[in-house]
Amino acid sequence: MKLNNKNLLKDKLYINGKWIDSEKKFQVENPATNEIIASLPMGGKSETSKAIEAASSVFLEWKQKPAKFRSKILKKWFSLIETNTEDLARIMTLEQGKSLTEAMGEIRYANSYIEWFSEEAVRSYGDTIPSHRADTRILVQKEPIGVIATITPWNFPAAMMIRKVSAAFAAGCTVVSKPSELTPLTALALVQLGEEAGIPPGVWNLVFGDFESIGEELCTNPIVRKISFTGSTRTGILLSQKSASSVKKMSLELGGNAPFLVFEDANIEKAVEGALSAKFRNSGQTCVCVNRFYVHANVLDEFSNKLKIKIESLKVGNGLEEEIDQGPLINPQAVEKVNSHIQDAIQKGASLKTGGNRHRLGGNFFEPTLLTGIHSEMKICKEETFGPVAAIQSFQTDSEALQLANDTEYGLAAYLFTESVSRIWKFSELLEYGMIGINEGIISSEQIPFGGIKFSGYGREGSKYGMEEFLQTKYLCWGGLNH
Ligand code: SIN
Repeated sequence: MKLNNKNLLKDKLYINGKWIDSEKKFQVENPATNEIIASLPMGGKSETSKAIEAASSVFLEWKQKPAKFRSKILKKWFSLIETNTEDLARIMTLEQGKSLTEAMGEIRYANSYIEWFSEEAVRSYGDTIPSHRADTRILVQKEPIGVIATITPWNFPAAMMIRKVSAAFAAGCTVVSKPSELTPLTALALVQLGEEAGIPPGVWNLVFGDFESIGEELCTNPIVRKISFTGSTRTGILLSQKSASSVKKMSLELGGNAPFLVFEDANIEKAVEGALSAKFRNSGQTCVCVNRFYVHANVLDEFSNKLKIKIESLKVGNGLEEEIDQGPLINPQAVEKVNSHIQDAIQKGASLKTGGNRHRLGGNFFEPTLLTGIHSEMKICKEETFGPVAAIQSFQTDSEALQLANDTEYGLAAYLFTESVSRIWKFSELLEYGMIGINEGIISSEQIPFGGIKFSGYGREGSKYGMEEFLQTKYLCWGGLNH
């Protein structure tokens, strides 16, 4: 691998400030070529329990440091990541597949959380409350929760982990992180830079390998006081069930099934641009990606014809090559799921406008696809496709559009395109989602409270709300103050 900073290539677990190996290994593959790019130690229960012990042993010391101390370390980490952006992006593309441009974008996106929480660290305010008695005073202060576990997916190997851990560190928590076994190299490189920035031994630990035994230990060990998870709804439910016996706080950022509404009065050019970014970012592999397009019948042809032209201009290929828009999907199972959703839709009456097949490059590559004539009985409407397929259904009335958009157990993101202010207000209030893009297809950033409702989970990441997730409230009743 061509890297300026070879020190970023790590191949061990990181526990209590030490790089730890094990005899048993697992392999990491490049999804663009299926080549093995790393052989890493298979961590399990015992490594996880050591990591938890390490995080616990330094918690009090870390918590008692002035917030400014933690803020300065985060700032140093931010600047080291900035210097190493290109190398980090290269590592990410190699193990995740997204284009280098998208990978650089993700590193900057991840780093924006570190910058944000380095600033929030010093703004963890409490309260004083007027007392009902003359001789007492009531104070409320915020304290870090304790040892945190983060469990994060392969689709954003840097941003998903960083937006949790940077908030946790800012709050004064210590952390055990488990990145996806499909993309651990980016996480390792970020840990290396964290160590260089001065994150003390034990404050951050990284384990991966046998995800079932690691997950079991993180959920059942009573020292862990909170789990912050991004991933599927099925796994999120399992983690909360397992964590219930030790009464842990949970944050769950789970699956989505985002609708994208285009009304008759929409600016169609804007809607097509929004559709392209909200659907094809990361080859359709994001939780906030559009899954279902609902377009007013009077603008259906214009919208779908213009979107088709844009889709056909997307360049598919190995993310390390020049000017690639769409990398491969993560693995053969992902390709199979996308294919099965398309086949199911076609069998049930959808029309294929472009794409629809595995890409001629083979392996995990898939053609960017456009389907029209979809309906609620198709898998593509019920389940998250997590791939490069835009699927369109038309509607006639506002109430029909609202009913279709809310007809899902998920509630992460929704998008609407209209020039009518009253429609914007009405739909923003009635759509059952945690985040709404209004005439906008890209809604993520460090300043916003990212998160969902219903089966998409609970808890928020980023913004001042993201910091709250790692704090608990303590009330002090100060008596005997007779004047
Ligand atoms: C996700 O896919 O879970 C997150 C995407 C984002 O942060 O925009």
